[in-house]
Amino acid sequence: MRFSPAFLDELRARLPVSEVVGKRVKLRKAGREWKGLSPFNQEKTPSFFVNDQKQAWFDFSSNKNGNIFDFVMQTEGLSFPEAVEKLASIAGVPLPEVSPEAQARERKAQTLYDVMDLAAKFFEATLASGKGANARGYLADRGVKPATQIEFRLGYAPADRYALKEHLGSRGVSVEDMIAAGLLIAGEDIAIPYDRFRDRITIPIHDQRGRVIAFGARALNPDMQPKYLNSPDTSLFQKGTTVFNFHRARQPAHNDGSVVVVEGYMDAISIYQAGLKSVVATMGTAFSEDQIKLLWRLSPEPIVCFDADNAGIAAAYRSVDRILPILKVGHTFRFAFMQGGKDPDELIRQKGLDVFKDVLLGSLPLWDVLWDRETLNQKFDTPDARAKLEHKLYSIIRAIEDKVVNMAYFRTCRIELSEFFWSITRGRRDLSKKSALVERELNIEKEGYKHGLQKILLGMLVHYPEFLDAKGERVSKLQLSEELEEFSKGLYDLLYAHGEVDVELIYSQLGYQYPRYYKVLQDIHGDRTENLQRGHSLFARFPKLAYDPPPQFVEDCIDHFIHDLEIEQMLLDLSRLKSQVIADADFETISNRIGDLVREIHRNIGNYNETGSRLAEDASQIKVAGRVAETPLPHRQLAPISA
Ligand code: UTP
Ligand code: MN
Repeated sequence: MRFSPAFLDELRARLPVSEVVGKRVKLRKAGREWKGLSPFNQEKTPSFFVNDQKQAWFDFSSNKNGNIFDFVMQTEGLSFPEAVEKLASIAGVPLPEVSPEAQARERKAQTLYDVMDLAAKFFEATLASGKGANARGYLADRGVKPATQIEFRLGYAPADRYALKEHLGSRGVSVEDMIAAGLLIAGEDIAIPYDRFRDRITIPIHDQRGRVIAFGARALNPDMQPKYLNSPDTSLFQKGTTVFNFHRARQPAHNDGSVVVVEGYMDAISIYQAGLKSVVATMGTAFSEDQIKLLWRLSPEPIVCFDADNAGIAAAYRSVDRILPILKVGHTFRFAFMQGGKDPDELIRQKGLDVFKDVLLGSLPLWDVLWDRETLNQKFDTPDARAKLEHKLYSIIRAIEDKVVNMAYFRTCRIELSEFFWSITRGRRDLSKKSALVERELNIEKEGYKHGLQKILLGMLVHYPEFLDAKGERVSKLQLSEELEEFSKGLYDLLYAHGEVDVELIYSQLGYQYPRYYKVLQDIHGDRTENLQRGHSLFARFPKLAYDPPPQFVEDCIDHFIHDLEIEQMLLDLSRLKSQVIADADFETISNRIGDLVREIHRNIGNYNETGSRLAEDASQIKVAGRVAETPLPHRQLAPISA
């Protein structure tokens, strides 16, 4: 229905924005305006303003603004006509007259809605009656609580052939309307139309306004086929454009900012009953374009649940193709996979809602599912196979009509491909580095690997200052933590001032004169105390150093740690570059740079890992060779501390 501007103006005139907003947001007068806490964000100080003169609201927390219609649409998830209808009824303004044909259609539909509602009431009553005992037992066994049965208007269709037909007939409903509503089985070869739903639990399916438009009906015993019998498509109901539970999920979805999409009626009911109310079901069909758009009205990123079995994965893969063409900026999907052959209903009943929420937390972005679909369980060990993959992915992405999203996918794809191919040709799956030396010889898990390594490096430079000079250039380029950076500068200043330094000089010139350096020195190296030798903090992190290893080993270790931190830096640069890819216009340059960097990192990691293994081997010899006595002693003579 289209509304005339005059009609909309009248609504605006009758309903001050503050009144409409005030039903949802607590407003306080602020000068000529009203203010309150944003309904779109959790906030403590009000950034939401209403100006009745301007007939508008402004939300500075989310940069949204609009009129009364926008407000109702955005906070309740209504469509524009629905928002207008709702506000018209609040304002007490009748909806505008429509054409006689439209009116006739409307009346006809109205009677069908009434028929559906009468049917729903009949099934509800039957469930509550003596005839419904079996069905009530079935629902109880499935853990559907009475309150849930009532809220979902579950019912029972008796086994008799004409029970509903006779009931509706006694209420003056014509057989023609019963057939039009999909409630009877009828046809040329059927002499007397009879009830479609018999001896089944009935589950009403509602439209977006909460009117019953169809039923799903579940068989009570496992031998009865099909398991679910659904209403046929009618003038009220088209399976492909409906999702089950939409009208109940709308408000919760807007409150949560998310919605869960499952396959089955019972899954949705079970999740809802467990307390997660922003849930809808697709009723076992493949996603249609209309359903996708409908889901986006609930949340910009619905999470769709699939079984982790082959059929479920195939269904997820198919839906990717449905979604891609209509993707738009700010709207996408996530995919969650149910492990262990359990559907959400079974999982929740056995393990509780939290375990199901964990499954949702593990959901994958659309791109990941697409990537997996095209790459898992396949070999790309020839250029031909790689070309095929590249071609395939680009042609899939071409289906995305939205230019901005298309470009973003295209770019992501190029980068992932280049990384993927690189790692394949190098026989490595990812950019993780693992040094045997770092793994086996160092105790730095507690303080974090990167920070611990920085401390060991500087501690070694203090302990073996003869290497300071040669490593100066590389060390100066590392990005150390602030405290260590400052200390490192102090150390090198000392070196350049004196030309040559030893441990004693470092302690006397830096440690005993500047408290902040002393603190660092203690941490990375460790001053001599009553029963601890100098360097004890360093030895605690790298115990083998206490055994006076040969200088070559020491220098190699220093190089290795510097190298480690350099690679760490490159990985950081890489992720920074990747994050620029979407934003930056100069894509060519950046993606080339990324390619170069990835190759450089791979080369470095290769060398690094080799060195790490060799050094770990060397380190394992150190104690075995018994270079020093059982109890390690300070390996060099230290001059007495000059106070
Ligand atoms: P499932 O077979 O996964 O059923 O079908 P379910 O939801 O787990 O059912 P229960 O737990 O055994 O009761 C998923 C959905 O597919 C549609 C229904 O919407 C069902 O909820 N379906 C399934 C049908 O329409 N007809 C059928 O015969 C089976
Ligand atoms: Mn089930």
